[in-house]
Amino acid sequence: MAQVLKLGIVGAGFIAKFQARALMQIRNVEIAGVVSRTAASAQAFSKTVKDHGIGEGIVYADVTEMAKHVDAIAVYSPNFTRVEIVEKIIEAVKKGAALKGLICEKPLARNVKEAQRLVDLANAAKLKTAYFENQIFMKPVRTQLQQLAPQQRTMGPLVLVRSAEEHGGPHEPWFWDPTRQGGGVLSDMGCHSIAVGWYCLTPLGKPLTFLQPVSIAADCSLLKWGQKPWREKLMQKMGVDYSKTPAEDFTTGMITFKNPETGQLVKAQFTDSWMFEKQGLRLFMDGMGPGYAFEINTLNSSLQVFIGDVAAEAVADAETALEKATASRGLLVVQYNEPDLYGYTDENEDTAAAFLAGRDGFLPLSYGLEITKLCMAGYMAAERKKTIDLTDPAVQKELETYVPLIQQGKGAEVLFA
Ligand SMILES: NC(=O)c1ccc[n+]([C@@H]2O[C@H](COP(=O)([O-])OP(=O)(O)OC[C@H]3O[C@@H](n4cnc5c(N)ncnc54)[C@H](O)[C@@H]3O)[C@@H](O)[C@H]2O)c1
Repeated sequence: MAQVLKLGIVGAGFIAKFQARALMQIRNVEIAGVVSRTAASAQAFSKTVKDHGIGEGIVYADVTEMAKHVDAIAVYSPNFTRVEIVEKIIEAVKKGAALKGLICEKPLARNVKEAQRLVDLANAAKLKTAYFENQIFMKPVRTQLQQLAPQQRTMGPLVLVRSAEEHGGPHEPWFWDPTRQGGGVLSDMGCHSIAVGWYCLTPLGKPLTFLQPVSIAADCSLLKWGQKPWREKLMQKMGVDYSKTPAEDFTTGMITFKNPETGQLVKAQFTDSWMFEKQGLRLFMDGMGPGYAFEINTLNSSLQVFIGDVAAEAVADAETALEKATASRGLLVVQYNEPDLYGYTDENEDTAAAFLAGRDGFLPLSYGLEITKLCMAGYMAAERKKTIDLTDPAVQKELETYVPLIQQGKGAEVLFA
């Protein structure tokens, strides 16, 4: 019988529920406990866990108490709560809680200073860690690398990867508030696309950070949600005022990486938006190598359904068909196993096996810190309207404490300029 990791979860919102669906598909994790801000959501989550036989899902009053009863804790609460919660977890470990590991969702933190603090805290407590960047675990991403391994060996690695995550905008008010979330879509989803680009470009068998980031150019813009009718909708629905504290709803940029063994330069382009007007979430990645290529588009599914106008009232819940669905009639894409498609099942399986064996997950928190640095450098490039030299020690030093204007709540200075 395989060993099972007893996982405690902090937060019972969107991602906690998604991850629970992933855990229904694997055998080496059970949800032993949950802590959330509101008792009702913790209870509802606990019921789901029990109903699906994926653990005891005991509701604890606080994370300090839960730490005594689980093997590892996954922090699935909002970005602005991350440091405070991890501090509590580390305090509990210091007081004797026998935790093996700590999981943090993307983005690791709102800025480099916070991300560094998380890494230092986990190191000081000797905890094994996992930074949850699900897209690196996506089966299509892993499979293209596997399938194209012979081409990579004979022709050389990929030289250009373009990666995008786009939907119509997040589901909770705190995401839209740049001070609480860390910015707009570059902080929220750019972290995914930057990680995927770096990962796919990395020659097979080389470590995650083998390719050295050389430079970054980026643009952050407010294309839709700053317009009056949309701004008003946002104010009404989410309670944020984008005339005063706006964040970017579109970003694109280019990172150049250098292969330290051959000197070859390769490029990762990222594009992320909260103003995507198609059926729902789309992850798009493509890559070019010499004489070979790959392409992934999660809006291509083997299942489509059609709902005509006369039948439209019969629609149950569009979001059970596709994350961030924006339409409930017409020809609709259905992804029937999103937790698997987006990589959640595989990231959980990897992390549980790693923690049980006393190792870090495939992506430790220190890797999340590197991604945070690149996101912050992206904001710096967009804010200053210039390419940032990532090899300059002065830039690296500045990034340690840099907080983008957008994150400071001063986005009007950059987005309306
Ligand atoms: N990998 C992905 O694709 C992905 C997708 C969505 C969200 N996320 C990440 O997951 C995290 C949570 O996002 P979400 O969409 O689930 O948010 P959410 O707002 O839907 O849920 C957050 C949950 O945390 C709880 N909470 C708030 N403050 C808390 C506190 N101090 N202590 C304990 N619980 C607290 C809330 O009550 C809620 O249950 C974010 O960091 C987000 O970036 C990742």
